[in-house]
Parts: sequence; C-alpha cells; structure tokens
Amino acid sequence: MTARGVSWEAGADLIVVGSGVAGLTAALDAAAAGLRVVVVTKDGIGEGSTRWAQGGVAVVLGDVAGDSLGAHVADTLAAGGGLNDADAVDVIVRGGPGAVRRLRERGALFDARGARLDRTREGGHSAFRVVHAGGDATGAEVERALVAATREAGVTVLDGHVADDALRDVTGRVVGLSVLAGDGGAETGVLRAPAVLLATGGYGQLYSSTTNPATSTGDGVAIALRAGATAADLEFVQFHPTVLWTGPAVGRRPLVTEAVRGEGAVLRDRAGHAFMAGVHPLADLAPRDVVAAAITRHTAETGSECAWLDATGLAGFATRFPTVFASCREAGIDPRTEPIPVNPAAHYACGGVVTDTWGRTGVPGLYAAGEVARTGLHGANRLASNSLLEGLVVGERVVRAVCEDRAAAGPALLTAPVEPAPALPVADRATLQRALSRHAAIGRDATGLAAASDAVEAATVVGVPVGRAGVEDAALTLLAQAVLAAAGTRRESRGCHVRTDFPDRDDVHQASSLRVRLDAAGRPVVVADALVGAA
Ligand code: SIN
Repeated sequence: MTARGVSWEAGADLIVVGSGVAGLTAALDAAAAGLRVVVVTKDGIGEGSTRWAQGGVAVVLGDVAGDSLGAHVADTLAAGGGLNDADAVDVIVRGGPGAVRRLRERGALFDARGARLDRTREGGHSAFRVVHAGGDATGAEVERALVAATREAGVTVLDGHVADDALRDVTGRVVGLSVLAGDGGAETGVLRAPAVLLATGGYGQLYSSTTNPATSTGDGVAIALRAGATAADLEFVQFHPTVLWTGPAVGRRPLVTEAVRGEGAVLRDRAGHAFMAGVHPLADLAPRDVVAAAITRHTAETGSECAWLDATGLAGFATRFPTVFASCREAGIDPRTEPIPVNPAAHYACGGVVTDTWGRTGVPGLYAAGEVARTGLHGANRLASNSLLEGLVVGERVVRAVCEDRAAAGPALLTAPVEPAPALPVADRATLQRALSRHAAIGRDATGLAAASDAVEAATVVGVPVGRAGVEDAALTLLAQAVLAAAGTRRESRGCHVRTDFPDRDDVHQASSLRVRLDAAGRPVVVADALVGAA
C-alpha cells in the first residue's frame, strides 16, 4: 500500500526511513515477524542508491575453487587499511551466503549458467566471488525484487515524505519521526513508533561529481547526530576510480563498474601507457582507493582531464555490461572500439552512524543500517561489492534487535512533545560542493581543509530549514562540517583519506577511528577519546 499526506497517525512498531536494500530487507523481515512497519521515502519507493549499484554482491557460496570465507574476510581487512572492526567483518561476511539465499527466495534473479551463479571480480578481491544480475545491473535487480516483495507483503509505504528529525521522549528514547510531505515538503507532521531505522544511504551529494542519486544528502547521519548518536570514519569518502568523464558536470555521473577491469580492461594515459602496472601488485585490480589516487596523481602530472579505460579487448561488452554500454553510447563513445574516458567521483561513505552489527546506534529506539551506518565492516576503504552484502545482512539482523529490545524495554512514552522545528546552520549546496570537491576530495592538506571550512562558514546562515531542499541542505551543511573536522584531525594518509601534507600512514598514533558528536551548540566535534570500540 502506498499512502500520501502526513495524516498517517496509526501506531507503528517500526518506521524504516529509506527504501534501498537495507531498508526494504528490514521492512520485509519486520512484516514477516508480525510488526506493524511503515517505510518513509523521499521520492518513490526504490529510488535511492541501491538501484545504481552495478558490480554485484560479494559473497562466498562455497563453489569457487580456492575461495573461502576466510579469504573474503582477509580481502576486506586488507582494503580497510587497519580500521575495520574484525568482529563486524566476520559477522557480516559469514552472514552473506544465507542473506543472498533469502534474497533469491524473495525473487532476485542473479546471472547464472545452469544451477551455478556467475562470478566476477573487482578491485581488492583475491577471487572471482561477486555475484551479479543483468550483467552490470545488480542493484536494479535487487531493488526490483525487494520492491515487488514489499508490495506483495502489503507494507505501508509513505513516498514523497522527507524525514526531518527524530522525536524523543523525556528519557531521550526515540519514539517517532517528524516528516515533511506535500509539494516540496510544505506540509509537516509526525509519525510515532518505538523504533526508527535509518536506512537513508550516504552523502555523495556533498561533492559536485558523484555516482550517487540526488537523494544522497546525508539526512540519516544528520538526524542521528542531532538525536545524540555518534558517527565515525566520516573522513573516509570513497571515490570510485572509473566514472564516465564527459567534461565538468554537477550531479550523478554514470559509473563504469570495476567489473570491467575485473574482466580484463586496463587503465591507460593519453599516450596509451598502462600506468597501474608497478603502482600495486594487483595493478588495475588494486583496491579502489589506490586506483583512484593513482588516476588523480597521474592526470595531475600529465595535465590530462581524465584517464582512459581500454576495454576494447573484451568480448561481448554490450551484453556483459549493458548499463555501461548504454551510458557510453549516449555520450558518443563505443567501448568496443575506443577507450572510455574516466575519472574518479565521490561514490561511497565508508563511515556513518556508529552501530553494532545489529544496527543499534546507542540511542534507545534508533537504529541504522546500510551506507548510513558505520558497523566497522569497511574501515578506511570499502572493498567493492561489500555494501549490498552489508545492507542485506544488517537489514535482517536489525529486525531481530528491534524485536529483542521491544521485549526488554517495556512501553515507550509515545507521547513525546513535538517541539517546533529547530533553527539549524544551512549553507547553499553549490558552495558546499565546490569547497568539498576542491579541498576534501582525493588529496587533502591543512591549508585546503581550512579554506573549505572558511568557505562553508561564510556561506552558512542559521534558520529553520524550509521544505525538502532546506532539510537536505541542513544535513549537507552538518556533514560538510563533520567531514572537514575529521579530515583535519587525521594527519596521516590511510585508505580513502589521502593527505598530501601527511603522505604516510601512522600506525603508532592514528590506527583508530575518529568519532564525531554534536557539542552543546550543535556543532560537530571530533571526540577526544577517538577509539571506536562498541557503539
Ligand atoms: C562497481 O560496480 O564498480 C561498484 C560496486 C561497488 O561500489 O561496490
């Protein structure tokens, strides 16, 4: 059922914010467990980041010679640059096979030869272990199956509803959500439930060029921080090395999946030199932080606007990679006969709201799963195709946590007062995107980070955010401040965080995650006791 308007006041047991892989998996499991669940989503159901994922789901199903769960764990830890939470890696990797089986039971169709699923390989993986669908349309197929199952299960979906803030009772427990709806978010209202799951995706829109859709504005991290939760690893914004380059542009850009390199394509410079050889033992299939940094360095050194991905040697490109092929053809490029111009673009938030592997944030009643959360799986750099995996596994586990917490907590005070919307710092989006793209992308230094902070500060006014755009811009402003604070504090280079003024990794003093919370004035601050252990 899809409902419009904010008059939806019937009690729910669980509000899920977001309709990607983690949100819909949780909503389906919650409905199956007999919970009254409502999904709140800014656009239509299924229009978040999940549908744009190309590569696939990294999972060890036991039928690839030489691969093992232990190898998947080891690759995840190696990519993560020493900041993963080893327990989280273990739990999520080991949860993968069961979660993928249940996703297939819900109707997702993966590419297969007979009874055996096809596999591809991406950067940082020591084996062909990534299952995929529709060639390079894995996210679209996962989303299709979950949306169909959600409709089939009769889950209530409030589309066109923007989550604004968490409602809390006098004890600080989250007991609902204030929302905006109607044209541009002009109407306000509240939804009440003793459990709220944030599954809102990342904050790629903080950068001018991103693979993320327009919905990825950091809303969930902002709501969680304002509710008293902790975030961590926010400085680790992963740039995808190969995004189709068609000149400077703002907004979502077409991805060229890493699986293209997994199946043999090679990065070249203008002179045709394959420059990844010698940079890393895995060359073009190095972890993506290494490849993205190498492209950035190489284009700066050679004065090129982009690098070129040579896939001309791959047989059957158009059928194996139909999404990439269509994007290239639209840009007038034929990848069967000419190299694809590519550049890195903001792709994935490795950090987010600190949770345990059950999605608990530490604020009673508030949960987070998927890209919005920081479970410790990714560390300083996410291994390719571990994100759909995490969404599936934690999306299931969080419902078990909600059920357990509900049994233990007793009745929540659902009568929390609805305060007037607070005044928040809001900067205009174009200024944020310019500042972060210039100074907090790949290759940061103290001078640039300070200049970005000054630019954000100068553009910020304090006021009550108006409508959807206001809520999103307030979230992006908070994320900009938080990312800049964390990036300035981490004076080393590690994973996706590359400091040109501190090029080395410092395992003696900085081998821990940086936590961020809001101070009494509502500003994000890096917490002095930086080590993240548990949520
Ligand atoms: C890709 O297909 O290269 C992206 C997959 C991912 O980000 O995990």
